[in-house]
Amino acid sequence: MHSLKRGVFISFEGVEGSGKTTQAEALVEWLARSQIPHIFVREPGSTSVGEAIREILLNPVNKEMHPKCEVLLFLAARSQLTYEKILGALNQKKVVVADRFSDSTIAYQVYGHDLPARMVAILNRFATAGIKPDLTFLVDIDVDTGRQRSAGNDRMEKRDAQYHERVREGYLRLARRAKKRIKILDGSKPVDVLSNEVIVQVKQFLARKGHKP
Ligand SMILES: Nc1ncnc2c1ncn2[C@@H]1O[C@H](COP(=O)(O)OP(=O)(O)O)[C@@H](O)[C@H]1O
Ligand SMILES: [Mg+2]
Repeated sequence: MHSLKRGVFISFEGVEGSGKTTQAEALVEWLARSQIPHIFVREPGSTSVGEAIREILLNPVNKEMHPKCEVLLFLAARSQLTYEKILGALNQKKVVVADRFSDSTIAYQVYGHDLPARMVAILNRFATAGIKPDLTFLVDIDVDTGRQRSAGNDRMEKRDAQYHERVREGYLRLARRAKKRIKILDGSKPVDVLSNEVIVQVKQFLARKGHKP
């Protein structure tokens, strides 16, 4: 086992069908092969409370859900995940790989739904003890290609193309504001090309944090 000096938090972000889950899983396989202690979580979910909230959030039956209710449910699930899994794993000096985290809330609820950024930032800090990813991969893809790739039947995926365009643009703005943390990947490239890019960047990142392979 290769121990890290401290925990490292890596998230994957992007619109539906961009390839987040594919890339997060490829990174997790590499971490396992490299015997680097890690956990893999997805949002919303990965706790029993969170998976129950996920079911409510993604169920197309809940058409009337207000954007404020929506953001609070996402944050409720994130809070449980943070306190039940992520903080402990970081304390144990593991790599935490998250399929979505707080940037999703900014992209989907602030840019997508026009909720007030400051209030959402405060609620997000309250929900998560203020933790944020050390490194984030934004898998960028045009909305149409992403929608063609994804199943498209959950409540979020069913929103119209303009909503998803605002989400994509929101992510790109976030990336421009946080160039050091957020790395943009061109999601139209082949899966294995992208996973190599991810692994190269993670290796460099871990080396900078004092991790020796
Ligand atoms: N780079 C890629 N090129 C082509 N197809 C891809 C690529 N990445 C993922 N896919 C495919 O697109 C679909 C959605 O990928 P997924 O990783 O589930 O996206 P997300 O988690 O962002 O919604 C899957 O069928 C997956 O196999
Ligand atoms: Mg996914």
